[in-house]
Amino acid sequence: MEKIITIDGLASSGKSALSQKLSKKIGWPWFSTGVLYRGMAYVGYIEKFDEKKYLSFFKSKDWFIKLTEKKSLFFYKGEDISSKLYQKFIDEKASFFSSYTLYRKALIPVQRSFYKAQKGLILEGRDCGSILFPSAPLKIFLSAPDRVRAKRRAEDRKEPVHAVLQSQKNRDQRDQNRHFAPVIKPKNALCLNSEEYSLNQIVELVYEKAIDIFQSKT
Ligand code: DC
Repeated sequence: MEKIITIDGLASSGKSALSQKLSKKIGWPWFSTGVLYRGMAYVGYIEKFDEKKYLSFFKSKDWFIKLTEKKSLFFYKGEDISSKLYQKFIDEKASFFSSYTLYRKALIPVQRSFYKAQKGLILEGRDCGSILFPSAPLKIFLSAPDRVRAKRRAEDRKEPVHAVLQSQKNRDQRDQNRHFAPVIKPKNALCLNSEEYSLNQIVELVYEKAIDIFQSKT
């Protein structure tokens, strides 16, 4: 059985917080796939990549991602550029970048290669359960009302809620309506509204489910 848990949902639905805690509890690494889209969009923007350049860059050794307990880090030319990737303008750039089918398709094998059977993996993003690992034994789909999600990001970024709400709406629309790999509830996914639980409750719930399915206290 593949030792994979996928956690999908729209922006600020609570995916990273759950993944991070679950990873610690279960002992599997976690991969925030959004950092890949953010990193590519950022480098492409500063280096002024065209389509051809992007496609060759995906295969180059100029970048790599390192999974750590706290977050997934993106390195470019040996430098950890992760802290640059969570600015407002990169939210937008990454959202546009991720709507290109050509780029998404090219990045599928890249993301799949992070799974090493002996270690297990938690993947968090938008299409982890629907496209990357549709046969994952445990798939979670997280949701939360728009206002709740915007409030979380506003607190994180120290920005006004109304401004976050508007840009969140635009990104949600792109995420849900893109031609290839839109955000959907993956088949057989467990749907949870993160507003209805505390973080610890949701971690416990998913952990119990994981133990049940994978039948080993890893
Ligand atoms: O989860 P995040 O906010 O870091 O994601 C950044 C962007 O990447 C966001 O616009 C959605 C996109 N994304 C995606 O399209 N598919 C994924 N599996 C992960 C992220």
